[in-house]
Amino acid sequence: MPARLAIIIPVYGEAANVAPLVARLDSALAGLAWEAVFVDDDSPDGTAAAARAIAATDPRIRCIRRIGRRGLASACIEGFLSISAPFVAVMDGDLQHDETILPAMLAAVEAGADIAIGSRHVAGGAAQGGFSAARGALSEGGAALARLLLPVKVADPMSGFFLLRRDLVEEVAPRLAARGFKILLDILLSARRRLVVAELPYSFRSRQAGESKLDATVLLEFGALLLDKATRGAVPLRFVAFAAVGAIGLLVHMVALALLVGPLGFGPAQWAATFVAMTANFVLNNRITYRDARLRGGALWRGLALFYLVCGIGAAANVGIAGLLVRDGLLAWGAAGAAGALITVVWNYAVSSTLVWRAR
Ligand code: GDD
Ligand code: MN
Repeated sequence: MPARLAIIIPVYGEAANVAPLVARLDSALAGLAWEAVFVDDDSPDGTAAAARAIAATDPRIRCIRRIGRRGLASACIEGFLSISAPFVAVMDGDLQHDETILPAMLAAVEAGADIAIGSRHVAGGAAQGGFSAARGALSEGGAALARLLLPVKVADPMSGFFLLRRDLVEEVAPRLAARGFKILLDILLSARRRLVVAELPYSFRSRQAGESKLDATVLLEFGALLLDKATRGAVPLRFVAFAAVGAIGLLVHMVALALLVGPLGFGPAQWAATFVAMTANFVLNNRITYRDARLRGGALWRGLALFYLVCGIGAAANVGIAGLLVRDGLLAWGAAGAAGALITVVWNYAVSSTLVWRAR
């Protein structure tokens, strides 16, 4: 019988957990046509061999062994695209997720939900025991950040345990970032409509064998994913370059201000520093940030003139604001100058992308 539910199980270094997991699925999903796909990234502990040993006698079990690639999210995507069952779930291969709620998750999606999430945060669920205090706090902070971005209410957007229809996965697959750990969050953010989410509580178990692969790089990738989605697909590299150029511009501004505030006084020094920083930003952005739309020759001078003109309007306001802050004794010249320069950076960003370089 063709499978109705396919369970994608990303695994790295889970050799000892494969057989116990299959046994648990077997009893939890009795009466259902299911299959499980272990997606292994060539773990040195023989995880793939453990899965293949079971697959040799159990046609419900399959194994994808990937070589030269690592990553939880991309492993899940690879698994998604290898199945034909109408429903698909993702579940960790370390026995931390509670397989007994899979039938209820399937029922929720069959009843009309777009996605069912095994949640550690809704009433009745528990994260205790499964995480150290520090990991718990990190997970909580990330979840709070993610909730701000999501158009739908999700208590546990960081869950690695969820079930959805295969056609929804196929629809969003081309837009998935395929980086890092947060495949569920990526799916939720990549859907073109508001998804109906059903959350089912479960207790996150402690790990028995093997160890967690979540580390600092994973957190960095999580940050990049949020940034990418928050800027609605604006090339993240361009954004990063802009931020870096902005930081250099701020530095240039402060050095110029420090040199000139003595001889000129704050008002004129802030003007001069703004001008110097503006020029530096223009040159750096033209070379780095907008390398693909780089202005040369006559266009370069026209661009610079336009940059000065539009930014000058904003700079006038900024110098005014900084001057007021200093005059009223609200901020010292350093802080006031930095505040003014920061506003200029944001202004420059908007102007650069739309008017000066017309980048996409
Ligand atoms: N193929 C593959 N490649 N599998 C991987 C990789 C990889 O690079 N990294 C991790 N896995 C597998 C693990 O073997 C495990 O089956 C599952 O993905 C989850 O990895 P863990 O390392 O056990 O993650 P965790 O327990 O710390 O994190 C869990 O909780 C997070 C909540 O903060 C997971 O459920 C995450 O998905 C979840 O976001
Ligand atoms: Mn785990």
